[in-house]
Amino acid sequence: MLEVKGLVKIYGKQMAVDHIDFSLKGGEVVGLLGPNGAGKSTTMKCIVGLLRKTQGEVTIGGYDHLSVEAKKLFSYIPETPSVYDLLTVEEHLQFIAQAYGIKDWKPIAEELMYTYDLLDKRKKLGRDLSKGMRQKVSICCALLTNPSVLLFDEPMIGLDPKAIRNTKKIFRELKENGKTILVSTHLIDSVETIADRIMIMKDGKIIGNDSLDNLRSASSSGVYTTLEDLFLELTKDE
Ligand SMILES: Nc1ncnc2c1ncn2[C@@H]1O[C@H](COP(=O)(O)OP(=O)(O)OP(=O)(O)O)[C@@H](O)[C@H]1O
Ligand SMILES: [Mg+2]
Repeated sequence: MLEVKGLVKIYGKQMAVDHIDFSLKGGEVVGLLGPNGAGKSTTMKCIVGLLRKTQGEVTIGGYDHLSVEAKKLFSYIPETPSVYDLLTVEEHLQFIAQAYGIKDWKPIAEELMYTYDLLDKRKKLGRDLSKGMRQKVSICCALLTNPSVLLFDEPMIGLDPKAIRNTKKIFRELKENGKTILVSTHLIDSVETIADRIMIMKDGKIIGNDSLDNLRSASSSGVYTTLEDLFLELTKDE
């Protein structure tokens, strides 16, 4: 469903993404982990076409990632949510619905606003929203289009405990509905239970890509009981 081949992104002289290859099958949920600066956000931005890749090939559902066909298949929730200053919460949802030609979007929008405690903020302008509220609007907009592939970059950052719990629940529901999800996170436990596979990035490279159980047994001593221990072992500096 998502195929990345030989992806490279160079900023000036810095190789932020260094020839990475991976793919996600339809319905797979994959957690993307890695220390600050590993290249997770850069990878995601290249996939969704927000950053121009230096080299490589990316396809989504078999289509080149920059094609309109591919764009209809995925949603992206950026690390820093950006909202339109002069649109209200509900106008954001209306705008997305119209841009994607979604009929009968209103009940879905209502439910999303309910889930994310935005019903009483529906008339608030984007510029007057708190960071967490912006993040919630961004998630609602992403879910409204019912995409097959979702790319979440640190979705839990800035959310309150209730919204974190709801987002985890939504992840499980999306997984049950066969969606393909790539989620980058530092909150390791937030993906531990739902991820079919974990990819660990460091210095622009993927240094681990397997199921949690396999990663555990492959790591030097195999005694890592938590993903956190394993993560720290794999990403430690030599
Ligand atoms: N616009 C930019 N110009 C130059 N260098 C950049 C730019 N954006 C990111 N970088 C560099 O690319 C590398 C990867 O950054 P990236 O944001 O992808 O990391 P990340 O894994 O998402 O980190 P974090 O966990 O902090 O979000 C870093 O070394 C960063 O300094
Ligand atoms: Mg990042």
